[in-house]
Amino acid sequence: MSSLQGKKILLGVTGGIAAYKGPDLVRRLRDAGASVRVVMTASAAKLVAPTVFQAVSGEPVRTDLWDEGAEAAMGHIELARWADVVVIAPATAHTMAGLAAGLAADLLGTLCLVTRAPLVLAPAMNHSMWEHPATRANHGVLAGRGVRFVGPAEGAQACGETGVGRMAEPAEIVEALRGLAGAAAGLLAGTRVLVTAGPTREPIDPVRFVSNRSSGKMGFAVARAAAEAGAEVTLIAGPVTLPTPAGVARIDVETAAQMHEAALARVASAHIYVGAAAVSDYRPDVVAEQKIKKSSDTLNLSLVRCPDVLADVAALDQAPFTVGFAAETEKLEAHALEKLHRKHLDMIIANVVGGGLGFDRDDNSATVFWQGGQEDIGQTSKCELARRIVALIATRYSATRSATTPIRSPRAGGRR
Ligand code: PMT
Repeated sequence: MSSLQGKKILLGVTGGIAAYKGPDLVRRLRDAGASVRVVMTASAAKLVAPTVFQAVSGEPVRTDLWDEGAEAAMGHIELARWADVVVIAPATAHTMAGLAAGLAADLLGTLCLVTRAPLVLAPAMNHSMWEHPATRANHGVLAGRGVRFVGPAEGAQACGETGVGRMAEPAEIVEALRGLAGAAAGLLAGTRVLVTAGPTREPIDPVRFVSNRSSGKMGFAVARAAAEAGAEVTLIAGPVTLPTPAGVARIDVETAAQMHEAALARVASAHIYVGAAAVSDYRPDVVAEQKIKKSSDTLNLSLVRCPDVLADVAALDQAPFTVGFAAETEKLEAHALEKLHRKHLDMIIANVVGGGLGFDRDDNSATVFWQGGQEDIGQTSKCELARRIVALIATRYSATRSATTPIRSPRAGGRR
């Protein structure tokens, strides 16, 4: 069980009835060795007196962005930087909406925009509010940014109805924080990780291109999870509109050839390469200089092979620990294992795509294969999936580094 000893936890309390469980949560966190500072919204302060939180946390409680005493020294910035983790319990539907929109309407919203610490939400609301499409969408946006959720649980609610929406119990929230402390304990500390993400675009003429449905969400989640695990991460991104994860260096490219060039130019210093990008396999042989006109009923495009970034990385004499993805519409295991062996990979993450799966969603499921092993990861957010993948990579990477003989198919050269 990971320790919360010495961890600095910023607890945001918002205006749900479950705020009454907050003092118990603070007490449990302090019993586990954490320092806790509490920020309350105006609504929360109507439900539980701030002095209660002050008494149990042993720290002054902040309720107002306009607190002149604290803000003389830019208190909200200092508070946001102080935290190792920010927990909001209970997190109301209104709070989730504000966070999803990036509102800095009060002290808590402002802190959440400033902090680079992981954000954990324990939602609490009426079950109809939890099921509302707006809340579902906000949940997806936040999960897609790497926010962790604990609960909500199902059961009797304060309003007298029953359903999903009860705040997770304080003990469960503490366990989730212990898990987070363990995950962030530097699994990849001291490593350099190169990740590719998103689609590539292969131009046909100045206005058209051949591409695919990749949004980059999976690769960006892997980059974020690797950075959280302590790695120095470089992300080579195809044309996507996603924000760069905190602490990650980003290089934007458009075509497969550019991605190949960017990856091969940087891979020499990487310990681990993760190819999550959906790199085009083919590109138009000839790119028209001017926009092609509708002069006939049919148009034939001649396509030629693009370079295979992953295969070329894995074939290097001093190849990094090389991880590929397999995006398949059928025979998932057979195709993934064929790619693992043919491309001499250390690991492959197989996922089903097409029919609304895999591409451009906030969730996914996958089976991870390596020589002599596999692990199924069921449907979950891409952020959580990425964390599980990174944990497996860390385990396999250290196993291959400490092994006297390589575990993967022999080829010329060694492993970095
Ligand atoms: O981006 P999202 O919308 O979040 O969707 C995620 C995803 C479905 C794109 C992702 O999970 C995924 O499966 N990525 C790999 C997509 C792919 O190109 O799969 P593939 O089976 O065609 O390729 C196998 C491997 O070779 C991949 O690691 C790919 O990066 C690599 N490859 C392929 C072709 C090529 N020219 N160069 C490569 O490096």
